[in-house]
Amino acid sequence: MTDIKIGILGYGFMGHEHMNLLRRLPEIRVTAICDIVPSQMDDAPEGVKKYTEMDELISDPEVNTVLIVVPNPLHKEASIKAARAGKNIICEKPAALTVADFDEMTAEAEKAGVRFTVHQQRRHDRDYLPIKAVLQQGLIGKPYLVRSMMYGVNGNMHDWHIYPEMGGGMLYDWGIHLIDQILNMTEEKVVSVYADIKKVINQDVDDYFLLVFKFESGMTAEIELGTYFLTPKRGWLACGDTGTAILDIDFVNGMQETRKIVRTRHLLENVPGKITMTSAGPTRSFGPPEPGLLYEEPLPEVPGDEFDWFKGYVKAIKTGGEFEITIPQVRRDLLIMDAFRESARTGKAVVFES
Ligand SMILES: NC(=O)c1ccc[n+]([C@@H]2O[C@H](COP(=O)([O-])OP(=O)(O)OC[C@H]3O[C@@H](n4cnc5c(N)ncnc54)[C@H](O)[C@@H]3O)[C@@H](O)[C@H]2O)c1
Repeated sequence: MTDIKIGILGYGFMGHEHMNLLRRLPEIRVTAICDIVPSQMDDAPEGVKKYTEMDELISDPEVNTVLIVVPNPLHKEASIKAARAGKNIICEKPAALTVADFDEMTAEAEKAGVRFTVHQQRRHDRDYLPIKAVLQQGLIGKPYLVRSMMYGVNGNMHDWHIYPEMGGGMLYDWGIHLIDQILNMTEEKVVSVYADIKKVINQDVDDYFLLVFKFESGMTAEIELGTYFLTPKRGWLACGDTGTAILDIDFVNGMQETRKIVRTRHLLENVPGKITMTSAGPTRSFGPPEPGLLYEEPLPEVPGDEFDWFKGYVKAIKTGGEFEITIPQVRRDLLIMDAFRESARTGKAVVFES
């Protein structure tokens, strides 16, 4: 199957985003869309068939690939139906609400001989790729900490995201992307995880989390996200024994960006232990650096754009090659999310073998 004819199931926020992008990608044709709320499709482009029933879209012979963009609990039903109808499947994240559901979905796809992948496109984000390059190219020496930060001020979750039974909350929404990014920036195995998950503004679903990954080398990765965290920004910090990489997108000041690696001209063991008085009291280790000690380099530039995920998809379909987002990777993302939830419930670190 080389001609990719997509039916978009669910024409809400993300369904529209997909349409806008796919219309600019010549290798893919969107032949049909479906939404149970007909008015959602009022602005659909000419020539695209419109359905209000999932089954109608899935059985359309002009659709050979179902792009599942309905709310989270419907991913399972839609993907099993699509598999049984012999259609390839692109499922939005989070692919499933449980690992057991995911296993059923992928088993059906395998049985039907259709291809299945998940739209976890944030592996192509402009803020993520330079930090991944820093780690993979050894630009900060031996890394001991990576921190991924996403802070917002809007507080409340919206629409179906406020209901636990709909797979609401930030861990399912953004958490899956941020976890996937961390797991795909290193070949190292995770050995344990710890999480603090809170409901700060929202009554029923999480809107703050701190997720801690411990890797086999001793490296720690942390993800902190809050929807009511009043220093709004997207940020990364990667610290190694020869430098610190910083990437900051400041949501207050016009999305102003900082992208740099900071290094010292010589190792700190050469710095004499001089006592400095600071506003936080006297210190020998944390006083201001001597003039010229620190210097900066730019972060590597890594090309990437919004089309990359789908370009990779087209290539995998045309060549029969592996998808960028594989079933074992998505399964691991969901498994580790379960381990984070268990840690938050028990207040203890959880051993994770991957
Ligand atoms: N990959 C990403 O970056 C990204 C970003 C946003 C959303 N998403 C995912 O996309 C999915 C949809 O999210 P959204 O923000 O677009 O939600 P949304 O509520 O804006 O849109 C969902 C649409 O599905 C329709 N719908 C509901 N039940 C249906 C059914 N049985 N049959 C047909 N249509 C039905 C709704 O009427 C609505 O228009 C979610 O799984 C979400 O996690 C992914």
